[in-house]
Amino acid sequence: MVVIIVTGGAGFIGSNFIFHMLEKYPDCRIVCLDKLTYAGNLSTLASLMDNPKFRFVKLDICDREGVYKLFEEEHPDIVVNFAAESHVDRSIEAPTIFLQTNIIGTSVLMDACRKYGIKRYHQVSTDEVYGDLPLDRSDLFFTETRPLHTSSPYSSSKASADLLVLAYYRTYGLPVSISRCSNNYGPYHFPEKLIPLMIVNALADKPLPVYGKGENVRDWLYVEDHCKAIDLIIHKSRVGEVYNVGGHNEMKNIDIVKLICKELGKPESLITYVADRKGHDMRYAIDPTKIHNELGWLPETKFSDGIKKTIKWYLDNKEWWQTIISGEYKNYYEKMYGNR
Ligand code: NAD
Ligand code: DAU
Repeated sequence: MVVIIVTGGAGFIGSNFIFHMLEKYPDCRIVCLDKLTYAGNLSTLASLMDNPKFRFVKLDICDREGVYKLFEEEHPDIVVNFAAESHVDRSIEAPTIFLQTNIIGTSVLMDACRKYGIKRYHQVSTDEVYGDLPLDRSDLFFTETRPLHTSSPYSSSKASADLLVLAYYRTYGLPVSISRCSNNYGPYHFPEKLIPLMIVNALADKPLPVYGKGENVRDWLYVEDHCKAIDLIIHKSRVGEVYNVGGHNEMKNIDIVKLICKELGKPESLITYVADRKGHDMRYAIDPTKIHNELGWLPETKFSDGIKKTIKWYLDNKEWWQTIISGEYKNYYEKMYGNR
């Protein structure tokens, strides 16, 4: 039995990864370690709670004693670290917790890996560590050798963690890998992020707040394709390597929002242009040649299908997101969008 600790598994991508792994590998046991911040949702994992191959542990990755105790109990073969503060806008409002979780938390996990031994530590990173690209240079893409050049406290904390991971590889020989993925979308995406926020607001006929002119470009990937890339990396890649993950699916924010309106039969008059994000990155675009050539990864879900599946999921799972938006989220929304 292979034991995998998945941190942040009650969040968006981590939960999708757990579902993927348990379905694909009958000989795999998943231990989900999650602090259950505002972004963690235990109801997402409800269907697994009686599964003998699954264990949930409420824990902060910064809690060294707790993390060491869990490693002693579980003897994990692999650790995949999804746990993070992940929302750029929140990092602009309050950076400190991003430094704490995203940097210190990563070091605590890797110290535990060193102390107890591990076959692989995988860091789930982001394309945002490369900064952004200009809109008028469609010939430019992020490759793994591009210098890190961050814009927000969020991306700076993720880049710091990446440097630390590579330092643990070089200094201590820890068997690490890093994936830097573009924007994900799909089921269980927290409704503070662009796509789920627009779906949820459009369904309630509420304004759709587009930052600036909506010209910023993101490179969207269906979450399952990201999970499959991580699965390949932890099983097949060389250690000490960084892999960019993205599907060459660049879209302007405004086009995404218009598409969501169209799919839901809602008027574009709901679109409201609001004050821009501070330091807003213009364009992200991944060059995934390395993971394709070395590991044979290619995205499988086309955006036109993935967005339909995603919208259907939000229509079929109203309880999941209605519970979220009726709680503390209300205060967040009022604070962030009230006077924007
Ligand atoms: P998310 O915000 O949906 O989930 C984060 C999870 O981490 C939550 O369950 C939360 O409770 C948990 N968590 C937060 N702080 C913790 C702590 N101190 N200890 C333990 N658990 C903690 O995030 P997501 O969108 O699923 O992103 C997961 C990872 O993937 C992050 O590292 C993010 O940087 C990276 N990433 C995200 C995207 C994307 O488009 N969402 C793209 C590329 C990379
Ligand atoms: O690129 C990977 C990153 O993608 C991940 O590392 C982050 O964790 C994840 O949150 C995401 O960051 P972005 O900032 O790109 O995603 P977000 O959904 O917040 O915003 C996408 C774009 O939409 C961005 O240009 C800002 C814009 N936007 C966002 C919100 C929430 C709006 O115009 N209006 C909004 O209300």
